[in-house]
Amino acid sequence: MGFLDGKASGVAKLRMPAEVTQCLRDLLCVGGKRLRPLLCVTGWQAAGGCGITEAVVRVAASLEMFHTFCLIHDDVMDDSSSRRGAPTVHRRLARHHGQGRGTLAAERVGAGCAILIGDLALAWSGELLHTAGLTPRQLDAVLPLVDDMRSEVMYGQYLDVTAAGRSSTDVDQALRIARYKTAKYTVERPLHIGAALAGAQLSVYEALSAYALPVGEAFQLRDDLLGVFGTPEVTGKPILDDLREGKHTVLAALALQRADRDQRRALHSLLGTPSLDEVEAAHLREILTATGARHEVENMIHTLRTQALRALDTAPFPPSATAHLRHLTGTALARTS
Ligand code: IPE
Ligand code: IPE
Ligand code: MG
Ligand code: MG
Repeated sequence: MGFLDGKASGVAKLRMPAEVTQCLRDLLCVGGKRLRPLLCVTGWQAAGGCGITEAVVRVAASLEMFHTFCLIHDDVMDDSSSRRGAPTVHRRLARHHGQGRGTLAAERVGAGCAILIGDLALAWSGELLHTAGLTPRQLDAVLPLVDDMRSEVMYGQYLDVTAAGRSSTDVDQALRIARYKTAKYTVERPLHIGAALAGAQLSVYEALSAYALPVGEAFQLRDDLLGVFGTPEVTGKPILDDLREGKHTVLAALALQRADRDQRRALHSLLGTPSLDEVEAAHLREILTATGARHEVENMIHTLRTQALRALDTAPFPPSATAHLRHLTGTALARTS
């Protein structure tokens, strides 16, 4: 938060709108599991890093700032109304700047402001990184990983938004989307980046990936279940968005594969309906359950979890890092928020 305090006082000097840093501060303070910074520190330990240095903390913070950017833009793209139990940045700013404008104009201003605040979060995640005081060797190891992480998540989000609204039975493509939009920037790259700070060997990166990709995919599968069957008061997120957008999730793809004729007709006509109401959503949930798709996604989470934990059995990490990863697996995959 010290970094944001500095930005806030800079804003006052430049006479720029204070709401920019306030929105970021509120989003960061209102919640969030801080998974990416935790994994970055664990990656550092897995590669033999000792203690937690100021530089490691700053790199970890830059990953949370990058995640903040991802969330703000994601909520614009998914037209989501709430995040971490509070209005999303674009909704908040549409209200703030919307007075005296029509609804559409207010929404446009809100989306424009959120895109810009998200852009600032991305720029500031870079600033946190390049002011972390890394050695030239650390920078050489870390920067290509950060470059890859940025491209991966943007490709993943691109696949996600372009596949939405086109119901399909393609489970492999849904898993690929989960891998790129979530698994890599949430689990694999934070671990790699932490490990790079400690000067990791190739075998450490490989062992981290063998653990991280199944956990990251399962993390998104859990997110997909929570996004349809979760409790908004607990997740802090709406439960109609994925259905209204017709997101190409593993859950939807499996349901389409297993549906009988009537169920398939209902899935095709209701998934991706922007005005979907609670009754129609309840009907969709019934089908997602009755086809066995919901159960099958739980099974897949279980299988991926087992695969990840097995990878840890032979990983060349200090025992404390392995124990930490085992613990994080449980909290990341059995979560309710
Ligand atoms: C949400 O991530 C976006 C996804 C990649 C699924 P988290 O579930 O880690 O969100 P916070 O940070 O805890 O709110
Ligand atoms: C997750 O997107 C990926 C990113 C945020 C980059 P989702 O749209 O599936 O995540 P939630 O459910 O809104 O958090
Ligand atoms: Mg979303
Ligand atoms: Mg999304």
